[in-house]
Parts: sequence; structure tokens; C-alpha cells
Amino acid sequence: MDPIKVGVIGCGYWGPNLIRNFVELSTSDVLAVADLREERLAHIKCRYPNITTTQDYRDLFHMPVDAVAVTTPPATHFSIALDCLQHDRHVLVEKPLTLSSHDAQDLIEVAETRGLTLMVGHTFEYNPAVQRLKEIIESGELGKVLYVDSARLNLGLFQRDLNVLWDLAPHDLSILRYILGRDPISVRAQGAANIFKGKYDIVYLTLQFPDDILAHVHVSWLDPRKIRCITVVGSQKMVVYDDVEALEKIKIYDKGVEAPPYTDTFGDFQCSYRYGDVLIPNIRFVEPLRLECQHFLDCIANRAKPQSCGRVGLEVVKVLEMAERSLQNGGGKEMILVEDRNGRERATA
Ligand SMILES: NC(=O)c1ccc[n+]([C@@H]2O[C@H](COP(=O)([O-])OP(=O)(O)OC[C@H]3O[C@@H](n4cnc5c(N)ncnc54)[C@H](O)[C@@H]3O)[C@@H](O)[C@H]2O)c1
Repeated sequence: MDPIKVGVIGCGYWGPNLIRNFVELSTSDVLAVADLREERLAHIKCRYPNITTTQDYRDLFHMPVDAVAVTTPPATHFSIALDCLQHDRHVLVEKPLTLSSHDAQDLIEVAETRGLTLMVGHTFEYNPAVQRLKEIIESGELGKVLYVDSARLNLGLFQRDLNVLWDLAPHDLSILRYILGRDPISVRAQGAANIFKGKYDIVYLTLQFPDDILAHVHVSWLDPRKIRCITVVGSQKMVVYDDVEALEKIKIYDKGVEAPPYTDTFGDFQCSYRYGDVLIPNIRFVEPLRLECQHFLDCIANRAKPQSCGRVGLEVVKVLEMAERSLQNGGGKEMILVEDRNGRERATA
């Protein structure tokens, strides 16, 4: 089969990583790259002289490009992705899919009507360590999942046109729904705008998942350390996934606590703590973005639904919208609506 011809729109910080992967994969050829900034195009031309560059992404529609990756700022995702779908191109859109669930729904409908692949760049769903974490949870080794804590902190990078919720939390929300295999029921969000007026740079999310699973997400552009850590506490064992660790990304702790049976006196109140071994699984690491790009190409070739399809992108955008609403109303609880079989939206609880 001939390689799939790819165009990349947006080559600022993240776009060149997609270009490199699509260039290196044997099942794709990068035909063209578009960016508004001439200096970014010059940078790409210098590295890849055979790639056509243009400041107007619509030039791609006059080329034999089969698929497009949209790596422009989130506020432009909807209009550019829609234009590409309407010109019958398969589309991979960076996270978050759009800035509103209404827009995400529109993209899904256009892609479905035209039989095109629509995928969102939830890169962590293609991360072998996250995939292992999901397997560990699904194996039942941890017992019942009690709660999950996620922290994604660093100094910067401050974004111009969106707050830290929309910039970083798509990663945590996509990981949580992926590893738990279910969508949250409700969200509360609180945050602070410390550096730029009105722009939240730290946000705390509290999410309620079905089966009494509580999750907490802390995202920050204002922290002295780079932290990307998820802790899953189960009734039998506990696991820590630290993405900053080079090799030992996952550690399974055989630790737990058992409450005493009914006690009459404080003196009888003794929990029994278990301090067992720590297991570090060997995970063969492949660049997650490489796996994501390969998956996009495979889905186009096989007319298969991507793991992070448009609907998955929509579910994450819905939670972000409700979290934003909660932020604006001082941390109130917002229910997350799901579609029933008749396409009507209702709360799950
Ligand atoms: N999956 C990940 O881990 C990950 C990591 C970083 C960024 N991202 C996502 O990638 C996207 C881009 O982020 P970034 O940090 O590279 O931003 P950036 O600002 O560095 O780059 C965006 C580029 O898009 C160009 N652009 C804007 N409008 C355009 C248009 N109409 N036509 C052509 N080019 C246009 C800009 O000139 C700029 O060069 C965002 O959606 C972001 O959330 C994802």
C-alpha cells in the first residue's frame, strides 16, 4: 500500500514533533507544512527540503494530501479541522479537540457523514506506561480502586490565549477516563490567577467517578518542580506512575490498611498496616507520539475507529467545560451529562 500523504498545519513548539514522526514512519509521507509564521516554515524547510511549505493552510487542499494534523493553538482547532474535513481530509487534532462541546459534536458529525477518520491527540493514551497502568487496574491486582490523585506541575509554560485548565488538564482527564474505563459524574474546580489577571495558572479539580471513585487533579504553571505523577490507591495494593522517571515509571506497592472490627474503647482502635514489597515492572518504552501517529495512519488504512476518536475528545471537552463553569462559580459541583440511547443528555447520577 502507498504511504499516506500527510500535511501538518502549525509548526510552533509541538508541530515539529509530529512532522518528525510522520517523516520517519514508513506508512506516511509528509507532503506539506503550513504555518502563519515564515520563520517557522524556514526552520522546517532547512531540515526537510522536500516538504512544501505555505503560510495559507488552504493550499493543502490543492495537493494530494490524504490526512492532516492540526497543531495550531486550541482556539483555531475547530475552524481549521472543520475546513479540512469538509475538503475530505482525515484529521488528527491536537488536544483539546475544541473549546466547546458543541463544536466537538459538529466535527464528529461531519467526519461520520463523510466517512473520515477524526482523532484527537491524547498522547498519554499511547504512552506504554499509561497502558501498563490500565492493565494493572483491569487485572484486579489493586483490589477495588478507592481514589486517584494526579499532579501535573511545572514553572510555565504560560499560554497566551487559554488558562492552565484547558492547557494541561486534558492530559489528566484523558488518562483518568482511559485507565478507569468510565467517565466522571461530576466535577468541582477551584483555582487562582496569580500572574495574569483573570488567567488561572493553578487549578484543583475534584472529580467523582462511578463506583465511588474519587479523583483529584492538580495542574499548575507556577511550581518550582516538574511533576507528572499519578497515584492509584486500591483496597489491596497501590501504584505510583511517575512520568518524569526515566526508567522506573511505575511502582506497585504491596501496602494496605485494614480497619479493626468494631471497637468499644480507643485503646482497642488499632489498624493493621501491611508493608510489603515494591514491584517495578519492566516497560519497553516507545515514544508515545510515534505510537499515536502510527495508530492514526492504521485507522485510516483499515477504516477503524481510533482509540482517541472524536467522541473521546468530546467527553474530555465536556468535563473541561463543566470545570470551567465550576471555576467561575467558586468551586460549585457541576454534573457531567451523558447521552442516553436516544441521544438525549442526562446526568449519570
Ligand atoms: N500532546 C501533547 O503532549 C502536546 C504538547 C504541547 C502542545 N500540544 C498542543 O499542540 C497545539 C500547539 O501547541 P504549541 O505549543 O505548538 O503552540 P505554538 O504557539 O508554539 O504553535 C502553534 C503554531 O500554529 C501556528 N498557527 C496559528 N494559526 C495558524 C493558522 N491559521 N494556519 C497555520 N498556522 C497557524 C502559529 O503560527 C504557531 O507557529 C496545541 O493544541 C497544544 O495544546 C500538545
